[in-house]
Amino acid sequence: MIDIHSHILPGLDDGAATIEEAIAMASCAIADGIKQMVVTPHVKSRTYPSKKAILDKMVNLQDVLQKNGINLLLVPGAEYRIDPELPRQLARGELLTINDKGRYLLVEFSDVSVPDYSADVFSELLKQGVTPIIAHPERNSVFIEDHNRLYELLSNGALAQLTSGSLTGYFSPYITTAARSFLERGYIHFIASDAHSRSGQLLQFKPAVWEAKRLLSEEEARRLLISNPQRALRGELIEACELMKKVI
Ligand SMILES: [Fe+2]
Repeated sequence: MIDIHSHILPGLDDGAATIEEAIAMASCAIADGIKQMVVTPHVKSRTYPSKKAILDKMVNLQDVLQKNGINLLLVPGAEYRIDPELPRQLARGELLTINDKGRYLLVEFSDVSVPDYSADVFSELLKQGVTPIIAHPERNSVFIEDHNRLYELLSNGALAQLTSGSLTGYFSPYITTAARSFLERGYIHFIASDAHSRSGQLLQFKPAVWEAKRLLSEEEARRLLISNPQRALRGELIEACELMKKVI
């Protein structure tokens, strides 16, 4: 499997604190059947950490993993907070898309708001050939209360990533209900760990895979865990979900 959302790079954000913790996270990921992991540190300000800082840190961790015999392939990426400046930063080459392919960008919202400018920002990114992937919409109270707000962004071309722990009750029943609902409506294109430490979300990955298979078909679960992530890494087109429908 391929995990497209993780905070395994040490010392850049609220993820792994030390290189030892990053190594432990990589071992956990391998034990759960993850072969490739996109490193997606939070970009906390408009300029930090920079694309170069992320790439340098990733190369360093990959080297350490190799020396420790841990066969997890790291892939470049970042998690950007929604911001009206994103399209201009993208045009200036400052943003790190998934696998640096210039095709998919992981974008997060706060847990409590969806700014009015979001649709315009997404449309500007799409015009530049970059598809936004909404990180864990099931954890945002606006999307939870009004599924149509998410539907509208998806129907205009955005994709969505569900966090594995949301499906298994790691956060709250409110979030678990939303996660199941989004999954069943076909609003979700990826399941990823969003792992921040050696425990927590990463340990929810395997149970989330079972739950996704139970709620969907085996084939559909594979699409969210293997085929779509593979396409994202290659910069290939990902089809919208057929199940998507507006909530009335
Ligand atoms: Fe994250």
